[in-house]
Amino acid sequence: MLIAQITDLHIREEGVLCYRRVDTAPFLMRAVDTLNQILPRPDIVLLTGDLIDAFKIEEYRRLRGLLDRLRLPYALIPGNHDARAGMRAVFGDQPFPKTGFIQYTIEHLPLRLIGLDTLVEGEHRGQLCAQRLDWLEARLAEQPERPTVIFMHHPPFTTGITPMDKYNLEGRERLAELVTRHANVERILCGHLHRSIQCRIGRSFATTCPATAHQVALGLGEAGVWGFTMEPPGYQLHYWIEGQGLVTHTGNFGDYAGPYSFRDGSPIELPRAAV
Ligand SMILES: [Fe+2]
Ligand SMILES: [Fe+2]
Repeated sequence: MLIAQITDLHIREEGVLCYRRVDTAPFLMRAVDTLNQILPRPDIVLLTGDLIDAFKIEEYRRLRGLLDRLRLPYALIPGNHDARAGMRAVFGDQPFPKTGFIQYTIEHLPLRLIGLDTLVEGEHRGQLCAQRLDWLEARLAEQPERPTVIFMHHPPFTTGITPMDKYNLEGRERLAELVTRHANVERILCGHLHRSIQCRIGRSFATTCPATAHQVALGLGEAGVWGFTMEPPGYQLHYWIEGQGLVTHTGNFGDYAGPYSFRDGSPIELPRAAV
């Protein structure tokens, strides 16, 4: 089984730049084109929040049009730039609960997927309140042996990128306790940091994925600036190897030279996905 992850698309309406600088939609189009060509074909694409930027329904409608080009099944959860009502209005075909938090499970794949909603509407910090964690605890109790992946927006750890850590996740202590008690939780896949970062959580492991457009500047501690850079955007492929576990690879979007043969340096023609 193969999970592809993209995150933090920050789509704005037509003609509007994100932070007055980044035209995020063409970046997403390139990401979609890349995902459509990946072999083997991912079983699902997880989009881990900050799908749009400014909470507007027009942004969700534009996002929908862009994602209609993606020829793979996909699943969405909200980030701090999202609005639940807009997500429900435009993505009515997603398995969202009708009301309340956008939390749900995906059951038909070898790995069980559990999407968590860390959004506090109108704020940038994340939260797993007692209600959301109770729901998670009940879901985990249903299938305690089955390999499970949690996906959500805010990572449940301090990153050291101090300005971003100010928008941390409340409730992470109980989350760590839950995934320690449920050793079948293979991974917690997150976004929000616009970078690839990894950290152990109890007896599980949490990762963040690069964003499709702009990245958060890498600077640790109080000396770090709070800003974004146009480093190469990226995605992650989480490859399930039976008997071992989940292996995470990070790739960059963009046109790079190669691949070339290790034998004689000649160009290698890549197989094309039949789409
Ligand atoms: Fe973001
Ligand atoms: Fe975020």
